[in-house]
Amino acid sequence: MELKDAILQRRSVRSYTDAPISPETIEALVELAVKAPTGSGLQPWGFALLQDKAEIDALSEQIKKKVCENIAAYPEFAQYESWLKNEKYSIFNHAGTVLVIYGDTASPWCVYDCSLVAGNLMLLAEEQGIGTCWIGFAEALFDDPEFKQAHKVPANFKLVATLSMGFRKHETKPCERKAPVFFCK
Ligand SMILES: Cc1cc2nc3c(=O)[nH]c(=O)nc-3n(C[C@H](O)[C@H](O)[C@H](O)COP(=O)(O)O)c2cc1C
Repeated sequence: MELKDAILQRRSVRSYTDAPISPETIEALVELAVKAPTGSGLQPWGFALLQDKAEIDALSEQIKKKVCENIAAYPEFAQYESWLKNEKYSIFNHAGTVLVIYGDTASPWCVYDCSLVAGNLMLLAEEQGIGTCWIGFAEALFDDPEFKQAHKVPANFKLVATLSMGFRKHETKPCERKAPVFFCK
């Protein structure tokens, strides 16, 4: 697949088949994704790979509960309160794979660097027919010291991106965007 086609076809995928993605496939994608540019050459990324579906679904419930019980603390999620209160809603859309990207705060560029890796990952996954969706809701839990400790994430790493991943169940339409604004030309 041409890079341009991967860019045009990639969409946030929120419905997955039951087909699992092997850890080796994810590792191979990550190995390529980290060829991204990196501020001062520091390569400040680290990954947590979750593939236990029962755990992923339980984490979704934990996040929904936490956000709904403290909605005032999450103004960015207020517009989604009805989704989070819906017992059928799964934050990770019942994905069998969730890949979490953490940035080493020793690098002042870690958020940029890890976001570039996330972008690469989404396009590389697209090339292999794997759908992804960045899950901002995960910020309510995955940066907590208890979560990081339980998943062996060092305390000096901060959450940057969470991607749910799986083989798409339905076709998605190509991406459309409003015309870019140039402030000068
Ligand atoms: C930082 C960020 C956070 C996002 N958080 C969520 C989320 O929590 N749940 C979700 O379903 N989609 C989430 N998305 C996906 C966006 O809704 C999606 O990218 C946007 O609507 C454009 O659609 P497209 O990706 O299909 O082109 C997030 C995307 C980004 C970049």
